[in-house]
Amino acid sequence: MRDNIKKRNDKTKTITKLILEAKQLAHAETDNINDAPIAKFPQWPINCVVGPGLEGAIACESKIGYVNGAKGLLIYRGYDIFDLCAYSSYEEVSYLLLYGKLPTANQLDKFSKKLISCRKVSDTIRLLFGFPIGKMNPMAALRLGTTLMRCEFTSDDLASGKVDISGIIHTDADSIPMETLPIGEQHAIYEFHQELKKGKIDKKTLLESANSEVACHRLIAGCASLTASISRMRQDKFPLEPREDLSHAANFLYMMTGKVPTAEQERIMDVSLILHADHGMNASTFASMVVASTLSDIYLSVGSGIAALNGPLHGGANEQVINMLKSIGSPDNVKKWYERACSKKQKVMGFGHRVYKAYDPRARILGPLANYLVSKSDSDEVKNLFKTAKVLEKEVLETLGKEKKIFPNVDFYSGIVYHVLGISPEIFTPLFAVSRVAGWTARIIEYLKNNRIFRPRAIYSGPLDKNYVNIEDR
Ligand code: CMC
Repeated sequence: MRDNIKKRNDKTKTITKLILEAKQLAHAETDNINDAPIAKFPQWPINCVVGPGLEGAIACESKIGYVNGAKGLLIYRGYDIFDLCAYSSYEEVSYLLLYGKLPTANQLDKFSKKLISCRKVSDTIRLLFGFPIGKMNPMAALRLGTTLMRCEFTSDDLASGKVDISGIIHTDADSIPMETLPIGEQHAIYEFHQELKKGKIDKKTLLESANSEVACHRLIAGCASLTASISRMRQDKFPLEPREDLSHAANFLYMMTGKVPTAEQERIMDVSLILHADHGMNASTFASMVVASTLSDIYLSVGSGIAALNGPLHGGANEQVINMLKSIGSPDNVKKWYERACSKKQKVMGFGHRVYKAYDPRARILGPLANYLVSKSDSDEVKNLFKTAKVLEKEVLETLGKEKKIFPNVDFYSGIVYHVLGISPEIFTPLFAVSRVAGWTARIIEYLKNNRIFRPRAIYSGPLDKNYVNIEDR
């Protein structure tokens, strides 16, 4: 497998070149932005400002990935996303996220074989046939699929599957009062570091349970097989068996389309999977970690990640981008469309980000890749979509870009890339999940090693002293 990936990368040197050019451009534009360096050993307690939507709040400490929104940096386990896209593969990146280090050749071979052995999810697919998959939202179908995969696991994990919680439950002598208003407090002060040490889960228990490495491998491999199968079932086609001789990216495209992709198609899919694999404490990662923190299990936690990712403000934006570009119709219509959107205060899909106040590095890579794919396509429709996107990007950068630091995000060009690869729009968001499952599982495993149940609070602003009125008297 390793050799195949190397050969494929050798055959797709133009793509490597485009990624490295994007890296150069990104660094040239943002290297001079001064930003506070991150402390190697954070000094607890940490004092910070929190805004609506938990903006600025700290959920945990993690060594998995880092997003620097001011400089447009995305780093997995210390490695720049541009380098990972230029030289790595999704298998290698999943290993890196899960285990913290780049694998040796031997480790990568073993890991790739494990994923291959987990690709076959025929029992789950058989169960899926009992549901109206064609009528369901594909993200709901994928979520159902991960729950059904959990059923397959249940028989194995009955004996050892329950995480031993003795020793984890502890009283909080110094816990933060939850029922009173934090009068005069402007900042959140995070002091949870010592707390976490108390709640360690035995590593051995973790690895034997449904919260295990095996579950992570099954989910990383299985979400791809499930998504491909769901895509085919929606087109009234029979799901295909996975192929053991193909990489994760190539097998995914094969299982979806029935055709072994070209080296370039495979490479672009691989780059896209790498790009979406992790992204800090985003909504779906947080959702999956909240569920995992109750000591539920990884299958159900990943299901929650899928549910959160489905929304148009998060993973669902990529599908909306294509719909938006189609509704704009042509580059000539952009100006008028954009003026109308601004006057209605309508959000432009594929732009803006909670964290990035610079160009999203993922869009920086996907833009030139979309351009490359479009330049090789004879379809007037995709050429028109891409031109429309470029004109729209220019308009937004000149206005919202300057005024509010709003730039294209990962979803702006990913839709065009997938469209040219022949993937139908309703599968774009499941595809995001196919990749992000590596980040979700890695972060869940990391968090569970020092678990504490997530339990923020809401400030109650309702009445306290109402008398109950019988229904007939209301
Ligand atoms: N188009 C127009 N204006 C925007 C946009 C946009 N796409 N995004 C933000 N703004 C404006 C917004 O109207 C607000 O203006 P004002 O301060 O005058 O009220 C300001 O920028 C801040 O926006 P916000 O919605 O408060 O920012 P947020 O951090 O809560 O939301 C976001 C981030 C991604 C949800 C938002 O930018 C958005 O809705 N974008 C469109 C949907 C989208 O592309 N989502 C994909 C996100 S990237 C994939 C992922 O990582 O999940």
